[in-house]
Amino acid sequence: MAGTSDGTNDSVDSKTQVDPAARIAALTEQINYHNQRYYEQDTPEIPDAEWDALTRELKELEAAHPELALDDSPTQRVGGAPSATFAPVTHRVRMMSLDNAFSIEELQAWAGRVAKGLDLDDAAAPVGYMCELKIDGVACSLRYEDGNLVQAATRGNGLVGEDITANVHGIKVIPRKLKGKNPPAVVEVRGEIYMPLKTFAELNEAQEAAGLPRYVNPRNTAAGSLRQKDSAITASRGLEFWSYQLGEVEGGPALESHSASLDWLEELGMPVNPERRPVKTIDEVKAFSDEFIERRHDLVYEIDGAVVKVDRLSRQRALGSTAKAPRWAIAIKFPPEERTTTLNDIQVSIGRTGKATPFAVLEPVFVGGSTVSMATLHNYDQVKAKNIRPGDTVIVRKAGDVIPEVLGPVLSDRAKNSVPWEFPTHCPACAQELVRPDGEPQTFCVNPLCPAQIHNRIEYFASRGAMDIEGFGERTVGTFLDAGLIQDVGDIYNLDWEKVGQLEGFGQISIDNLSAAIEASKTKPLANLLVGLGIRHLGPAGAGLLAQAFGHIDRIMTATAEEMAAIDGVGPTIAQSAASYFATEEAKALVEKFRTAGVNLVGPEASNLDQTLEGMVIVVTGGLDGFSRSGAAEAIKGRGGKNPGSVSKKTNYVVVGAEAGASKVNKAEELGIPMINEADFVKLLDTGEL
Ligand code: IVH
Repeated sequence: MAGTSDGTNDSVDSKTQVDPAARIAALTEQINYHNQRYYEQDTPEIPDAEWDALTRELKELEAAHPELALDDSPTQRVGGAPSATFAPVTHRVRMMSLDNAFSIEELQAWAGRVAKGLDLDDAAAPVGYMCELKIDGVACSLRYEDGNLVQAATRGNGLVGEDITANVHGIKVIPRKLKGKNPPAVVEVRGEIYMPLKTFAELNEAQEAAGLPRYVNPRNTAAGSLRQKDSAITASRGLEFWSYQLGEVEGGPALESHSASLDWLEELGMPVNPERRPVKTIDEVKAFSDEFIERRHDLVYEIDGAVVKVDRLSRQRALGSTAKAPRWAIAIKFPPEERTTTLNDIQVSIGRTGKATPFAVLEPVFVGGSTVSMATLHNYDQVKAKNIRPGDTVIVRKAGDVIPEVLGPVLSDRAKNSVPWEFPTHCPACAQELVRPDGEPQTFCVNPLCPAQIHNRIEYFASRGAMDIEGFGERTVGTFLDAGLIQDVGDIYNLDWEKVGQLEGFGQISIDNLSAAIEASKTKPLANLLVGLGIRHLGPAGAGLLAQAFGHIDRIMTATAEEMAAIDGVGPTIAQSAASYFATEEAKALVEKFRTAGVNLVGPEASNLDQTLEGMVIVVTGGLDGFSRSGAAEAIKGRGGKNPGSVSKKTNYVVVGAEAGASKVNKAEELGIPMINEADFVKLLDTGEL
């Protein structure tokens, strides 16, 4: 449980903030962060239900304060940015997402909007719906031309996805050729690639047998399997596919309904889930959904809800779509799954800031598609409020198949001799007394030399969101600490490689890779270094602002809290925390180690940028994760490039972000101007070429 709950977003996760603009900014930052983890890194940190709650709060705030809604709000976007590994594919017909209904009331409200939009009275003249299962996998578009599979693409941001044709060729259930003598000239089949539960379980058994970590859940494992550079690996993963929607079609039969389109896909030899049902009324839709809440465990794949679509295509056309989702369909999200198991123990882990977090040690239980043996309990008050004791039978829930949660005990099963759990008085890692500040829910180990804190701080420094040193994970950090090779993050840059070479498991290849990764981290932006220092309350946004405003770590170190708080977007809590941190001798000593090693200490403003884009014209459309609009423009102009607002013959590249403008994308397509994603844009900024 290294690093549990010591997230980077301490400064933004309080719902008690009253300023709606600040809350909107905080939610946007959190959702963007989690979107990146989910869509681009396949490593979600929070359950879907929690993500849903954040998104919902943001939507409500935006509805209440439309003037504060950000143009590039994540509520207006679909999915993540396309990756650099696979070539971009511009979808001819956009791949949309679905809105969600979390209750029968929300489902009825949707049906009400549909009936109103169609000018029908659902009770008197039923709208007619198609009910389907919501498969928990990865959306994919398969393009068949004259019956042959010519391209497979992920959804990406809905407009531009990734070309995964080579990998999809290895999925046996996806035909390379459609059935029938007269295949349509073009048919795009949209559906979900998923990993069956049995395949997932077998894969994890093999992982365990090889002493490797278990995969989290079938959905992310399917996504990870699809992103392999080596298509043989994808082919070995036993992925499957259900078709659920048509994209572009040319030369197909005249279809009147969505249900007829699914039947047609079946005739063409595509796998279509048999658990689908055309119904007349919304009550029947609810009955379908209720039936599968019961039956979901009997299925051999994971579902996270049902999908209902207005069946008649003319009615779908009449209803149209919003920026993100069709008005004619909605996902009915199922309530999270619950299971019971034994709470074997409650233990405490120490995070990088010294926070002591209790966690449940559970008798392993299969819930939400994976086996759970641990769950965070957050703090002492939560343990008391939940009234759980070691030895209890407890109810475990997995809201979004990611983070398990202990809901409470089954009191009728409680042993007579059971006693309440007490928070330990001393740190399990360094044995020093733990401290709970007055009025705070959290307990801390305040010993800066606590080995657990040191370990987690170093691991965090090397992690993706900070200095991104590949290969410097939990195990390496532990080995190096045990061997006395490092004591703090500064020592990473002064490793005795000869001694490393004497450690078990460190051959020349791993040494070369690790030293290259450490070397590469020296050129990371100053903001990443600041994030890596793990200063309480300072997340990526705040770090970026400090780096930009002061331009050099030396100026940040001598700045007062007031000077920091004067920066737009940096609040007093962050400012105070950063100023106190940099006043410490440890911080000063660390910075000297970085300086000696040649780690970048210069912020974006003050650096002398290479004129990599001299004479180039680059247009940016849509939201980028790592740049604001003006930030992208500055990055281009600062390197000698031009950044006009529209695409012309003179344009060299169009950078396509989330919710990109259709007119710019169309124009680029028309003029044959290369469209690139954010990762390529970063490469272009660095080197001036692709
Ligand atoms: S229809 C234009 N049908 O759920 C409508 N989507 O949360 C496009 N999904 O992006 C989607 N099962 O990846 C549709 N039976 C189903 C589905 C389904 C799973 C996924 C799909 C979509 C996501 C939205």
